[in-house]
Amino acid sequence: MFIARVLQGIGIQGPSAMGETTVSAVVWLVSGLVFIYDVITLPLYSLVQWPWRQVRRAKRIRVVRHAIAQHGDKPCFGVREVLVEEDEKQPNGKIFKKYDLGEYRWVSYTDFGERAAWFGRGLRELGLSPGDRVVVFAETRAEWLISALAAFLHNITVVTLYTTLSEDAVVHGITETEVTHVITSHQLMKKMRPVLERCKNVTTVVYMEDQLEKTDTGSFRDDLRIVSFADVLQMGEHSTVAASPPTSQDVAILMYTSGSTGVPKGVLITHGNMVCTMVSFATGTEIQSEDIYLGYLPLAHVLELMGEMCCIMFGVPIGYSSPLTMMDTSSKVKRGCRGDCSVLKPTMVAAVPMVLDRVVQGIESKLQAAGPLAKALFNWMVEYRNTWRRRGFDTPIMHGKIAALLGGRVRAMASGGAPLSPHTHDLVRSCMGATIQQGYGLTETNASATLMDGDDVSVGSVGPPLLGCYIRLVDWEEGSYRTTDHPRPRGEIVIGGENVARGYYKLPEKTAESFFEEYGIRWFRTGDIGEMCANGNLRIVDRKKDLVKLQSGEYISLGRVETVLKTSPLVDNLFVYAESSRNNVVAVVLPNLAPLRQLARTSVGPALAEADLDDLCANEELEGHVQRALAEHGRAGRLDKFEIPFRVGLTSITWSPDNNLVTAAFKLKRKELADFYREDLRRLYK
Ligand SMILES: *[C@@H]1O[C@H](CO)[C@@H](O)[C@H](O)[C@H]1NC(C)=O
Ligand SMILES: *[C@@H]1O[C@H](CO)[C@@H](O)[C@H](O)[C@H]1NC(C)=O
Ligand SMILES: *[C@@H]1O[C@H](CO)[C@@H](O)[C@H](O)[C@H]1NC(C)=O
Repeated sequence: MFIARVLQGIGIQGPSAMGETTVSAVVWLVSGLVFIYDVITLPLYSLVQWPWRQVRRAKRIRVVRHAIAQHGDKPCFGVREVLVEEDEKQPNGKIFKKYDLGEYRWVSYTDFGERAAWFGRGLRELGLSPGDRVVVFAETRAEWLISALAAFLHNITVVTLYTTLSEDAVVHGITETEVTHVITSHQLMKKMRPVLERCKNVTTVVYMEDQLEKTDTGSFRDDLRIVSFADVLQMGEHSTVAASPPTSQDVAILMYTSGSTGVPKGVLITHGNMVCTMVSFATGTEIQSEDIYLGYLPLAHVLELMGEMCCIMFGVPIGYSSPLTMMDTSSKVKRGCRGDCSVLKPTMVAAVPMVLDRVVQGIESKLQAAGPLAKALFNWMVEYRNTWRRRGFDTPIMHGKIAALLGGRVRAMASGGAPLSPHTHDLVRSCMGATIQQGYGLTETNASATLMDGDDVSVGSVGPPLLGCYIRLVDWEEGSYRTTDHPRPRGEIVIGGENVARGYYKLPEKTAESFFEEYGIRWFRTGDIGEMCANGNLRIVDRKKDLVKLQSGEYISLGRVETVLKTSPLVDNLFVYAESSRNNVVAVVLPNLAPLRQLARTSVGPALAEADLDDLCANEELEGHVQRALAEHGRAGRLDKFEIPFRVGLTSITWSPDNNLVTAAFKLKRKELADFYREDLRRLYK
């Protein structure tokens, strides 16, 4: 959502009615001028930037660069002060609640440790014992980490659940783990009410307070004990219960996946696993003394949790944020008030591909509006910048407005959770002037398996295996991926090492299916298809689940097609569907309103320009135009002819975990989507 507005501020304007010759002449002229500039400044830059060092670094495989230091009074995490919440009238007359936000308030490492110790003893006072489990069900905020660390100190296992999970899934997690204590937050108390009606064994609820509002603790079961976070801290401060530290073999976290098929599965992660993952993360990232990390992804996502744990280990302050307050234009930020990024000026940000795709969409729709000259110049600039980057230089152009969206200081971004399209990778890297390290890993492998080297300037790969991780490829005959393939070996990715989890909680069959031991190492079958490059980088090329065999015998990777088509400005989300009895694929698209209206105006007629989304989606003629636009986009993204949807249906229903069409991590649930759109798919294939 926030990204939809990210690019409002870019504003590249230019005359749009310019002939093609003029455009290329201008680009030629500018590139000529810049060439002269290059020649003049090259010696200077060589002296200042030492590009050979950068190139040499890019060639080095990996070196352990870090040692754990002591941090004491250094700031550990910061939370932004909410001054006031007020109504703001929008131009269209609607009224939205907005925050006026103050500065970040910081807590030192010493204080963080103290609070965790208090909270841990407080939990013991509330009746938890070493060896018990506690559910942490909250959005990303400082208290989340305090709770987790507190539980670890007493050998209490933390059960994590995504806040976007459906009510049934939350009940499933709470029941399966037999917990009696739940830690949640002000924002989620409403969601917990019906859940706790169904989970009678829960006796105690701890809630993290809101900065402004008082939490409503009424209308819960009478026998439920409801305590505020501050009260637990206070109970712990005056308690004398001794800590009961776990061993590396004890389970630290029982992490529920978002569940792309069926109910979420709990993954057991030990303390040893976590330390091991952190060490391997650390070898893949260079940390500088002025670094600040922006924490906003769900902590129930293993990538974010490990990222924040690493920050704590290396003394990188974490500034908490949320998608609603991240940027100046974010939906909860009062007009005139600065967003979290502008105030915090983070240097490190983790992102999921969905977020970065939206950034690219925003840039492209701006360019579309700005006309051919701006577009040609922009493309040339991206190319120019990438060219020099590969030679090891940094160029001063193109920082500016886009980088300022995230505070202007971001130097490193990490992306994980799904493959990032090379186009998005290149474009965002150029515009932000930051490295984007793409990583690969699963909850089952404690998030880590591979991570691109910070100095790697390529796109499309997820980097080499992290320290302590083994990767091997295994033939998958059905999809005809073999380790004997040329030019590069391909096959199902199997991950081994200390970071592989012990198994799924209470699911022995699933565990036996996916986990096995060999050569004294524990292995996990990922279901993803990879390709090993000559330099040791892994590329993700497919997913077993996404592969469908067409009637002609061609295999088609639905996920790959979606990754390409999703970067079209017309598309908010889409799913591609193929029937094995057919020779072509269709797609159901959830469109973006503004570009769709634009297309409707120019292709169908001005009458549709103000129509709402439902009416637009019901227009079959418009569907045809969307199909043509997507086909063109697909060809530009080098999709094969049979991979391009031959018909496209439009839908105005947003897919969310609530209607069970995507997982809590917003991965598509193909079976559910196909069932939901059965009629439409039949119509499209007719
Ligand atoms: C921690 O708790 C587990 C039970 O979950 C128990 O088996 C283990 O022995 C405990 N560890 C320590 C060091 O007490
Ligand atoms: C509550 O706990 C008891 C015993 O541990 C168990 O038999 C029962 O199924 C649990 N009830 C629910 C609703 O989880
Ligand atoms: C992953 O977790 C397991 C325990 O579930 C642990 O033994 C292993 O060391 C962890 N791996 C990494 C890389 O942290």
